[in-house]
Amino acid sequence: MQHLIDIMDLSLAEIDELIEKAKDIIANPEKYQEKCRYKKLATLFFEPSTRTRLSFEAAMMELGGNVLGFSDAGSSSAKKGESVADTVAVVGGYADIIAMRHPKEGAPVVAAMHTDVPIINAGDGGHNHPTQTLTDLLTIKMEMGRLDNLTIGLCGDLKFGRTVHSLVAAMSRYTGIKFVLISPEELKLPSYVKESYIKKNNIPYEQTTSLEDVMDKIDILYMTRVQRERFFNEEDYLRLKDSYILDTKKMEKAKDDMIGMHPLPRVNEISVEVDSDKRASYFRQAKYGKYIRMALILKLLEVE
Ligand code: NCD
Repeated sequence: MQHLIDIMDLSLAEIDELIEKAKDIIANPEKYQEKCRYKKLATLFFEPSTRTRLSFEAAMMELGGNVLGFSDAGSSSAKKGESVADTVAVVGGYADIIAMRHPKEGAPVVAAMHTDVPIINAGDGGHNHPTQTLTDLLTIKMEMGRLDNLTIGLCGDLKFGRTVHSLVAAMSRYTGIKFVLISPEELKLPSYVKESYIKKNNIPYEQTTSLEDVMDKIDILYMTRVQRERFFNEEDYLRLKDSYILDTKKMEKAKDDMIGMHPLPRVNEISVEVDSDKRASYFRQAKYGKYIRMALILKLLEVE
């Protein structure tokens, strides 16, 4: 495998290997600090990011490599009208591996057709976000000790939330999974995601608009931000943005060993009072993102 465009590009065995590698990196960071010496990672971010870009950069630095790139399409030649294909064809001559985020669905596929260096999809529009999913899988494994026999509640913007789409795909391959889909009518999981992963694999699921009603049966609660930048009008966003707010009162109904996840950034959907609850795992989750990206860079660069 050379590129990572979709989480389904990875087999379960490969995901397992990445998780094990990330765990080894956490336990023995010094073993890895020279692994990518003289290698360069380019981060081409045509859309805003904090965690994804910085964790990729930190990951490459901790492997002893270097980073270059841009964090804003406005500061790249995209502003002058350059195509993704041309940008990537050029950057492929400067770097050994490219992590790219783009507002258009499918942009990383186009990128992968125009370079020989590995392309990592760091989020394409409202479509996919495979490295966030690797982060999520490592988090679940570290916090719950397993990736099977879990009831996963996905809450918020299931329509535009690309992290949700990739996570549903990934989890649909494990056994004993149930999904609880919590969203307003307008922000339901797209039917292509439901058909391709949930229905196709006969995975039990329920859809609801009420978070309170399902709190007590969930093992993992995955909260998401309403994706303002993907809305066609601001009025709809304002009406829907505060549909769900996870607070301590709702947490009282949750299982003692539930974990609360969020890809971040959070807006209002989790009250800050929840942060001190030991079940709130979103900041630990963000940290795991660096380690799994280190493991991924090693794999794609074929560094042992
Ligand atoms: C997510 C994204 O960009 O899709 N953020 C991230 O990568 N951690 C979620 C979001 O922006 O809401």
